[in-house]
Amino acid sequence: MIKSVIAGVGHYVPENIVTNDDLSQRMTTTDEWITERTGIKERRHRKNRLDSEETTSFYGFKASEVALKNANLTAKDIDYIVFATLSPDYFFPGCGVQLQELLGCDTIGALDVRNQCSGFIYAVSVADAFIKSGMYKNVLVVGAEIHSFGLDFSDAGRGVSVIFGDGAGAIVLSSSEASDSRGILSVNMHSEGKYAEELVVKFPGSKSGWSDNLLSNPDLITAEDIYPVMNGNFVFKHAVTRFPETILEALQKAGKTIEDLDLLIPHQANLRISQYVQQLLHLPDEKIFMNIQKYGNTTAASIPIALSEAILEGRMKPGDLVCLSAFGSGFTWGSVLFEY
Ligand code: COA
Repeated sequence: MIKSVIAGVGHYVPENIVTNDDLSQRMTTTDEWITERTGIKERRHRKNRLDSEETTSFYGFKASEVALKNANLTAKDIDYIVFATLSPDYFFPGCGVQLQELLGCDTIGALDVRNQCSGFIYAVSVADAFIKSGMYKNVLVVGAEIHSFGLDFSDAGRGVSVIFGDGAGAIVLSSSEASDSRGILSVNMHSEGKYAEELVVKFPGSKSGWSDNLLSNPDLITAEDIYPVMNGNFVFKHAVTRFPETILEALQKAGKTIEDLDLLIPHQANLRISQYVQQLLHLPDEKIFMNIQKYGNTTAASIPIALSEAILEGRMKPGDLVCLSAFGSGFTWGSVLFEY
């Protein structure tokens, strides 16, 4: 039977560290407010907000280079690219094709996934299905974001802009027919579109008007159209229900229990959400990985960055049962369970 195994993992974050105190120079906020509500102490931002070289696909490229190296593979070995992001270089085409060019892959397929904080889980599901079907051998799965160019750093946007950060993570998922128990055991995805506007960026889009509106009547476009709008409390309440649900679902489908789990790597949405989930599932500190303190919420990039750091910090060893789980805009949520 063909299984998907994680052959290599890598991440990349820009050098520019933005602390809570730095943000308090730009808007009415404090380190205390941000730390207490979210656990975030700092995040990374692209140095120059107008830099057209340092793009989301470039961040994905930097993370992919590390993942390929760790997998002992080259770009020519990759059969397909799945790129998850909500902050692409262009409205279209997507980042997958930019990455194909940057890496110098053959003219392989490149798919973009638009599932926000759950994007990486959805991206892994595609790669896993292609591998298990026998269609591809090595699939590059990337989550990358540059949020800092699209956030409202005035007081009006402070409830959102303090949370998000820039970065990228990548994995190479490869097929294996080995008789060991390594590999992806279950993949789970959900959506509830009635809550689309609880966490949304409306422009550009067919609902809020296209560029012709902007040209003919720029006054029609408001800050609410172009910046993310989030009903924070509402998102929080749904997240703390959906995270545990999908983690238990992943275990149950694989015939495992919460006691079998060695490490939970949740999407880094908010430290308080992760701590709530940890308590509910009675997980000791060593069984959950959190790095939101350093990077904020990097949306589709948060899980692969955390996975990469968990490996670098020796938090995962071969044979460990690991669960990735996410919740976010859509609403969408899901989980991936694997043996490392
Ligand atoms: N600094 C200081 N004050 C701020 C602030 C900031 N950065 N952002 C908002 N405030 C103010 C609000 O204006 C409000 O003031 P008021 O009471 O005078 O009206 C007050 O703080 C409380 O705002 P509220 O939005 O109710 O705070 P909260 O306790 O719900 O925390 C979040 C806000 C966003 C941190 C919290 O709701 C959250 O984390 N939600 C989940 C978000 C998330 O995970 N999103 C990603 C999903 S994947």
